[in-house]
Order: sequence, then C-alpha cells, then structure tokens
Amino acid sequence: MHQTLNKKIVWITGASSGIGRALAVEAARRGARLILSGRNEAALRETARECGAATGSGNAAQADVDGGANSRHTERALLPFDLADISACTDAARRAEAIFGRIDVLVLNAGVSQRAKFADTSPEVFDTIMRTNFSASVALTRAVLPGMRARSSGTIVAVSSIAGLMGAPWRTAYSASKHALAGFFGSLRAELYGSGIQISMVYPGFVRTAISENAFTGNGLKHGELDPLQQAGQDPAVTARIVWNRVDAGALDIRVAFDFKAWLGVFLSRHAPRLFIRSISKHGGL
Ligand SMILES: NC(=O)c1ccc[n+]([C@@H]2O[C@H](COP(=O)([O-])OP(=O)(O)OC[C@H]3O[C@@H](n4cnc5c(N)ncnc54)[C@H](OP(=O)(O)O)[C@@H]3O)[C@@H](O)[C@H]2O)c1
Repeated sequence: MHQTLNKKIVWITGASSGIGRALAVEAARRGARLILSGRNEAALRETARECGAATGSGNAAQADVDGGANSRHTERALLPFDLADISACTDAARRAEAIFGRIDVLVLNAGVSQRAKFADTSPEVFDTIMRTNFSASVALTRAVLPGMRARSSGTIVAVSSIAGLMGAPWRTAYSASKHALAGFFGSLRAELYGSGIQISMVYPGFVRTAISENAFTGNGLKHGELDPLQQAGQDPAVTARIVWNRVDAGALDIRVAFDFKAWLGVFLSRHAPRLFIRSISKHGGL
C-alpha cells in the first residue's frame, strides 16, 4: 500500500521531544494535519511552532490545547495526556477522533526507557514502563481501529527499538515492552490482512534524543545522563525522513539509525547467543 501524508490526519504520541517531534515536523512538511500528544504542554506547543515554521503556515498559535471543536479549523491540535493512565488513553482517543473527525495515521512513538537492573527496579516502575510503552499502545489501537476498519483504510506506526529485537541489560522492562509491541502488532497485522489497514513497526538503533536522560532508574527517578551511543546517534530529522519514506512505501518493519554495532548485536543475539550475552554484559548494554 502506498500512502501519501498530504491532507492526512496524523496523531503522534511523544510529539513533545526527540523522534516524535521530528516525525511531526516532517509530516507537517508533507502536508499532514496533526494531533500532537505528550504530557509537556509547553513542549508540544514548541513542536507545533516548529511545524508552522517548517511549512511557513505560521498557524501554530491556533493549536487548541484542549482538543476542542475549534481545532477543526487548525492544522495542528495539542492533546496532552499521560499514557501511563490507561483510562486517560481511552478518553484521549475519543477526543482525538473528535478533533478532525477521524484518524488516518496513528503514530505510537512515545516511550520511556530504563537504566536499572531487574533486581533494583521496583514493581511500580516496571509496571509504569510496561503501561507507557505497551498497554497504552494497545488501548489507543483498540480505540482507533474501529474507525479505520469502517473506512477500510488507515496506518498504525508503532515505534519499538533495537531492544525490541534483542535483550539488553539494565532494560528488562523496556526490552520486554518493546518485544511485546512486536508480538501484538505482528499478530494484529495478520488479523487485518486484506483490510486496507497498514501496520508498520519501527526499530530505531541510536538516535540523538533525550531518551537515556529521561530513562527511569529503579526507583522511578530520571537517569539524567545522555548515553554515548545516543550522543553519537542519528539526527532525529534524518530518522523522521527515513521513517516516513518507508511508511509511505508500505514497509512493515523499518530498521533505522542502525550502525554496525546495532546490526552485529541483533545478529549475534540470534545466531551466537552465548557470545552475545558475554559481550553485552561487559559493556553494560546497547
Ligand atoms: N533515541 C533512540 O536512540 C531510540 C532508540 C530506540 C527506540 N527509541 C524509541 O523512540 C521513541 C521516542 O523516543 P525519543 O528517543 O524521542 O525519546 P524522548 O526524547 O525521551 O521522547 C520521549 C517522548 O515520549 C513521551 N512520553 C514519555 N512518557 C510518557 C507518558 N507517560 N505519557 C505521555 N507521553 C510520554 C515524552 O513526552 P512528555 O515528556 O511530554 O510526556 C516524549 O515526547 C520511544 O518509544 C523510544 O523507546 C528511541
């Protein structure tokens, strides 16, 4: 399936930062109307401003914080909510569909990482990561899918991770949540075969964002440090262009920002698991 973004209604979670913000700006450039979600309203507003600057439309100020009916006349609406609260997800999906009347493309990009061993991670933090990265994606998909089915068209883009393709120490919950996305969407994709609905999984390697700084430690505090691999990672704007090009081409699984180490890690984890475990345990993760 080939789908262009022009005039499409695109709802992006995690649009306040990093990859999500870059996906929003690139989608705006390609003519999409956007619903921008995250918790940080001021940061969402900045994303809307950057979208306006990228398109020269300058109408970011019209973005409607509460996602009300006024948004019908804007190119971008802000819809802040907390994904870790599953009932808030269902409510947000209802409001998102009301903003422009439908969702053509749902981008499940938001996520929180982890920097703590399993033994040091509280059950609450573990559950919050699973809810934010996985259960919330299921809830939003459940809410948006009936509309897509009724129209026999739609695209869901789910952002997993290299840690969704292999295990990684200090990321038991994160890696589990990203593997769960692949299991869920891989199964759903088969159920939706022939329905006109496309599901694209994105597996970023290393992109220069605040993901490691925002990662939870075992007690839920922020890790607060930028990992060297992210620091040297791909420019999110480049990542966004590649992702949209591949989604547009109907790609099902998109590996992006993979350096040699990333390819090697995934290969070894499959074909030489003992060697993989030994090497990844030495340098402490991805
Ligand atoms: N950067 C990489 O190298 C890399 C590699 C593999 C996978 N990924 C994946 O890429 C996606 C985007 O991450 P990023 O790198 O752009 O990191 P980021 O800059 O930390 O952005 C994370 C986004 O998720 C949102 N978010 C986090 N918790 C949330 C919650 N409880 N409710 C609502 N929104 C929440 C944040 O918004 P608020 O703070 O406003 O809530 C923010 O917009 C994630 O799924 C991540 O796992 C990134």
